Amino acid sequence: MGFVLGIDVSTTATKAVLIDDAGAVRGSAASEYGFDVPHPLWSEQDPHLWWSGATGAIQAVLASTGVTGDRIDAIGLTGQMHGAVLLGADGDVLRPAILWNDQRTAAECDAIRRAVGPERLIEVTGNDALTGFTAPKLVWVRDHEPDVWGRVRHVLLPKDYVRLRLTGDYVLDKADGAGTILFDLAARDWSTEVVAALGIDPAWMPPTREGPEVTGTVTAEAAGATGLRAGTPVVAGGGDQAANAVGVGAVRSGTVALSLGTSGVIFATTDRPLHEPRGIVHAFCHAVPGRWHMMSVMLSAAGSLRWFRDTVAPGVDFGDLTARAADVPAGSGGLLFLPYLTGERSPHPDPLARGAFVGLTVAHDRRHLTRAVLEGVAFGLRDGLDLMIAAGMPAPDQIRASGGGTASPLWRQILADVLQAEIATVSTTEGAAYGAGLLAAVGAGWYPSVEAAADALVRVQPVAAPGPDGERYARAHAIYRALYPALAPTFRAS
Ligand code: XUL
Repeated sequence: MGFVLGIDVSTTATKAVLIDDAGAVRGSAASEYGFDVPHPLWSEQDPHLWWSGATGAIQAVLASTGVTGDRIDAIGLTGQMHGAVLLGADGDVLRPAILWNDQRTAAECDAIRRAVGPERLIEVTGNDALTGFTAPKLVWVRDHEPDVWGRVRHVLLPKDYVRLRLTGDYVLDKADGAGTILFDLAARDWSTEVVAALGIDPAWMPPTREGPEVTGTVTAEAAGATGLRAGTPVVAGGGDQAANAVGVGAVRSGTVALSLGTSGVIFATTDRPLHEPRGIVHAFCHAVPGRWHMMSVMLSAAGSLRWFRDTVAPGVDFGDLTARAADVPAGSGGLLFLPYLTGERSPHPDPLARGAFVGLTVAHDRRHLTRAVLEGVAFGLRDGLDLMIAAGMPAPDQIRASGGGTASPLWRQILADVLQAEIATVSTTEGAAYGAGLLAAVGAGWYPSVEAAADALVRVQPVAAPGPDGERYARAHAIYRALYPALAPTFRAS
């Protein structure tokens, strides 16, 4: 029996997941770390944490399963997207990485729009400049830390720092590459035009490879540090959203993945480089060769429910809380909730957007409030889906859902009714690390394509279908949609 290893370099931990050749997860281990907030709105992390996290997690999963490194056929990498990792000539870390959730770069986003031209930027990269992306972080270092800038020789994304330490190669994958917004989306490689306009030396940007392509092999030194076999192939992998989509089998046009964690992500695979005309849903390359995806990111999805529970019903189990909300009818008695508790990314790229309950009366109790939160998140996700459909994506029949929020039967039903698609869950809950493992399985030669690997290994379980409440939700959604424009001036003033 052969094995592959998926490694996820996330913001809170590096996780290693061992998968056998029947697709079963044989074990997983995580090594946790924190991130730094040196100033309000900043978010940074020392890349060395990722490497010590990876060595710890790999050793732990090998030890707990009793599988030795020589039985692993290939390794796939995934991780937090959009981070800026700046390295000197010897791969030395020049400053802490600036992470995806760092918000310091509003001015740099404007500078990028000016330098490239706002329409041209969207035409080439598929995206508007957002603070989350890598390019504005590079511009920030260029303008604020000329000392560091002068010593940069390599730019990587977080998981690719682990690749460097594993294999000695400077390489990244197409999905993470596109998330820098330094990519020509259609050409699936660096845009010489955008890179030059931002004063970035093109020699700093590593070669990019498709998700299942082998980029190098584990060095003797890395083998010593991890317990892996020297010479084990490492595939390009993908950013966490693309790898998660592979892990739930969203690998063909029309299959949509929904990740309902703290944030809520709608991820739609496309076979052309589609983009939203204003660039307000993300358009990146997929980890599947020759495919792209659009993606809408809501910042507080299950995060809204957690906030609500902790604030209004502390200690109450999520299952009990949401089960009680099923007692009140669809539409929550006219109560609406806006989920913009931590600002929003799409469809309203607005750090000043705020949450709201609208329409409260004395007839409402905790059940209505809970249900309004579940419905409000579904409406916000629907906004993102509608923009993708308007950009040319076919309306989905099935949405593959993952993340803690999908445990609630009520929330699944609301999502099916509001998104007007069957909701299905999949056999594993290992998310992006599982997808990275599937990419490794293709790189190892187990399967001829990512599609074949997903068809063989991802087992799908339909859990909710659109029911009779769709009409009522459509009316409530129309009212919901009018609330952000009406309240935005209030958000700005408060
Ligand atoms: C995707 C994104 C997040 C990070 C978090 O655009 O910003 O998914 O990758 O890990």
